[in-house]
Amino acid sequence: MMGLARWMACGWQQGEAYFWAVAHDLPIDMTLPRALRLQQLVQPLQALMEGERSGWANLANAAAAVFSAAGWHWVGFYVVDQAEDNLVLGPFQGSVACTRLFRGKGVCAAAWEHNETQVVPNVHDFPGHVACSSASLSEVVLPVCNAAGEVVAVWDIDSAKADDFSAADVEALEALTAAVSTMWDAWTWTR
Ligand code: SME
Repeated sequence: MMGLARWMACGWQQGEAYFWAVAHDLPIDMTLPRALRLQQLVQPLQALMEGERSGWANLANAAAAVFSAAGWHWVGFYVVDQAEDNLVLGPFQGSVACTRLFRGKGVCAAAWEHNETQVVPNVHDFPGHVACSSASLSEVVLPVCNAAGEVVAVWDIDSAKADDFSAADVEALEALTAAVSTMWDAWTWTR
């Protein structure tokens, strides 16, 4: 009963056992290479997000899922603040980060303004890189788009190792980002 109650509270609709696997012990094989672990995450994360309408809750779980599955040191979202025309810190896992990022400065802004994934093998080589943490040596930032194709957020992933994102990692992260983008318009942001 306790399991069922928690399943219902979390909005999971396709099987209690599966919910437990997703929420408490990600259904991925941690012995696999990282890119394969990320690929394994796409379907369960999609299913988890389908059960919840809060965009904040879904971004929080998406960040936590990738953080736990991959081991990179910072994983999180910056959301486009249309009124202020900048990016504001959203749900993340990792150390305290810059709360606002501005047009024309840094990797996140580049992903936002060019609507293009930015893969940065060495952050010191990226002009204008914003160093929220001196521990970050490489990073990837992926644009999240609404159904109209507008960038509504970016997904920022930082590594403490240089050149730490393989093509396969980026491909898997793009699949995860596509899942977030596809659902974006169905989400609410007030609660
Ligand atoms: N490095 C990013 C800023 C965000 S933090 O890394 C969390 C950038 O250059 O936009």
